[in-house]
Amino acid sequence: MVTLSGKVAVVTGGGRGLGLAYARSLAAAGAAVVVNDVDAEAAHTAAKEITDAGGRAVAAAAAVGSAEAAQALVDEAVSSFGRLDVMVTNAGVLRDRVLWKMSDDDFDTVVQVHLRGTFTCVRAAVNRLREQGEGGRIIVAGSPAGQRGNFGQTNYAAAKAGIAAMTRTWAMELAKAQITVNAVIPTAATAMTRTIPAFAPFVEALERDGTPLPDALRKGVGFGTPEDVAGLVVYLASDASRAVSGQCIGIGGDKLSLWSHPQEVSVAYADGGWSAEAIAAAWPVSVGQRPETYGIPAPEL
Ligand SMILES: NC(=O)c1ccc[n+]([C@@H]2O[C@H](COP(=O)([O-])OP(=O)(O)OC[C@H]3O[C@@H](n4cnc5c(N)ncnc54)[C@H](O)[C@@H]3O)[C@@H](O)[C@H]2O)c1
Repeated sequence: MVTLSGKVAVVTGGGRGLGLAYARSLAAAGAAVVVNDVDAEAAHTAAKEITDAGGRAVAAAAAVGSAEAAQALVDEAVSSFGRLDVMVTNAGVLRDRVLWKMSDDDFDTVVQVHLRGTFTCVRAAVNRLREQGEGGRIIVAGSPAGQRGNFGQTNYAAAKAGIAAMTRTWAMELAKAQITVNAVIPTAATAMTRTIPAFAPFVEALERDGTPLPDALRKGVGFGTPEDVAGLVVYLASDASRAVSGQCIGIGGDKLSLWSHPQEVSVAYADGGWSAEAIAAAWPVSVGQRPETYGIPAPEL
């Protein structure tokens, strides 16, 4: 039995979608939860639902991104529940545009919430966790777009790739303090994904009359409900995952996966180094022979 009894967690963007599923499941497993959202009503409704069900939760409305908002969430955990054990940085927004139409504001908004919000919240949490000296859990939100790149998502893919890079960096820096850091790479039906044309009719049927998502989605694509993702967050928040750190873990529908990390897949050497001409001659027959693929393939349904 994985239990979080006695632990205190913060979930950013916990008012709806995946964050709400995380907050509910963490509370159901015994954790006290600070439910953050920029939408104050959503945060309060979520916290009330958890306390009405017998769990422990408080709402903390704030726009994640700034150092002040991050500190306020950690302070809320400490003032309401006495400590902090788990920081889940889940808050997110999309501003999808192809590169040539993407404004500075589209770029900055997404980077502010995802990349800076993850940095500031984790830094504030880690300062508290190091002070407590009893280890802790950092769970951040990656995305297939950050692992592979995705059409129309310059800002989002960059932020999510940065989050994966921070995960690997922090896993190194925080190992001694017994603080684990892992990225969840989810795929689930939420406001963020229900407009994807290939998924839309299935999500609509699920919402209309509970028609289960077909195996082609649950197993093939690994696309399910937010609740399908929450078990991984509870596991990563628990003592059972103490040996797991620095990983990007995919989950969705019936599928659980481990993402590879970038590494050199092919090397070549030239005595004295490589001129442009030497690279041009060697490329097709050496390191360029099997170029890496990129992008998220369109789902086949
Ligand atoms: N749904 C998926 O399939 C999927 C796939 C890959 C990654 N993700 C990631 O998972 C996370 C949750 O996504 P979701 O699908 O549940 O999205 P969602 O849009 O359903 O929920 C996001 C929540 O974050 C809140 N939020 C937005 N900006 C905020 C801010 N500055 N401060 C605090 N709260 C803020 C929103 O109000 C909302 O409640 C995101 O980081 C997203 O990038 C989701």
